[in-house]
Amino acid sequence: MIRIGIVGTSSISHRFAEAVAQVEGVLVSRVASRDGGRARSFAEAIGAPGTAIGLAELLAADDVDAVYVASPNSAHAAQIAQAVDAGIPVLVEKPAVLSAADWDAAVARARDRGVVLLEAMRTAYDPGLAVIEAVLPRLGTVRRVSFRYEKRSARYDHVLAGEQTNIFDPALGGSALRDLGVYPLHALVRLFGAPRTVQAVRVGIASATDGLGSALAAYDGFVADVAWSKITDTALPSEIQGEEGSLSIDAIDAPRRLVLTPRGGEAEVIVVEAPANPMVGEVVRLRDAIAGADIASDQHLTAVTLRLVDDLLAAPLV
Ligand SMILES: NC(=O)c1ccc[n+]([C@@H]2O[C@H](COP(=O)([O-])OP(=O)(O)OC[C@H]3O[C@@H](n4cnc5c(N)ncnc54)[C@H](OP(=O)(O)O)[C@@H]3O)[C@@H](O)[C@H]2O)c1
Repeated sequence: MIRIGIVGTSSISHRFAEAVAQVEGVLVSRVASRDGGRARSFAEAIGAPGTAIGLAELLAADDVDAVYVASPNSAHAAQIAQAVDAGIPVLVEKPAVLSAADWDAAVARARDRGVVLLEAMRTAYDPGLAVIEAVLPRLGTVRRVSFRYEKRSARYDHVLAGEQTNIFDPALGGSALRDLGVYPLHALVRLFGAPRTVQAVRVGIASATDGLGSALAAYDGFVADVAWSKITDTALPSEIQGEEGSLSIDAIDAPRRLVLTPRGGEAEVIVVEAPANPMVGEVVRLRDAIAGADIASDQHLTAVTLRLVDDLLAAPLV
C-alpha cells in the first residue's frame, strides 16, 4: 500500500483525496498544512488518520511514502526539491514549476536520487486523449487544430474588487495561461509534438497577469490556435480539421463527447467512458511509477509544454 501525504488544503486536494479512494493500492495517510487546525479539519473531512504542520514534518513522518503537492505554483519547485532530497516520490500539481529550466533541474535532481517525479497533469492520463489519438487517422491530413479552455473563475471577482488572489497573483505564479492554458497546450504537444514556432497575445487584468490569451503555433503543414481564459466563458468546443473530416471535442482537458464528421458524410458521436473523477488517472500513474513504470516520456511532455509556456509568457500583456 502506498501512503500519500497531501500538501495544501484547498478544494483540489479534496478532489484528489476522492480520486485516491477510487484507486487500489494507495491511500491518504496524512494532510499537511501551514496551520495545524486546518490540517486536522481537512484530514477529518477526508478520513485521513494523520496530519503535519508544513512539508518538513510531513516528509519526516514514517507513514508517508509519496506526496501530492497542491500549493500555489511558485511554491512547487522548492517543495519538489525538499521531497526529492528526502527520497519521497512527488506528484506535483500543474504547472509543475514556473519554467522549463526549473523542470529540467527538478527532473535531473529526481533522477540523480532515483525518486519518482510526475506532474499531476490530469489531461495526460485522461482516456479521452487516447480516443482522439485513435480517431486522428480518419481525419486525413490535419490542417487546423483549435483547442480552448475558457472558464470564468469566481476568484476573478476578487480582482475586479481590487483584491489580490493567489490564482491571479503573479508573485505566486498565478496566470490564466499557467492555470488553464496548460491543458490545451499539453494536449497539443501530446497529439502533435512541439510546434516549429509559437506566437501569443496575452490580455492583462488588474492584478498584472494574463486573464486570457491566444497562441498561434506553426507545424509542418498545419496551424494550431490555442485559447485560454479565466475571465470569460465559451460555448465553443475544441476542434481538429483534416482534409477528410473534422473532429469536434467538447472539452480538451477531459474529452467526453466527440463528433466526427467525415467529408460529405454523416456525423458520428463518440462517447468516451471515463471515471467521474478526472484525477483518477494520475493517481494510477503515480502508483505505477513507484512500482517501476518508466516515466521519462511523461516528464518529457511536461518539459515541452513548459517550454511553450515560457515562450508564450514572453509576450507582453495588452
Ligand atoms: N488539477 C486540477 O484540476 C487543478 C484545479 C485547481 C488547481 N490546480 C492546481 O493546484 C495548485 C493549487 O491551486 P489552488 O487554487 O488550490 O491554490 P491555493 O488555494 O492558492 O493554495 C492551495 C493550498 O496551498 C496552501 N498555500 C496557500 N498559499 C500558500 C503560500 N503562499 N505558500 C505555501 N502554501 C500556500 C494552502 O494550504 P494551507 O494554508 O493549508 O497550507 C492552500 O490550501 C496549483 O498549482 C493549481 O494550478 C489544479
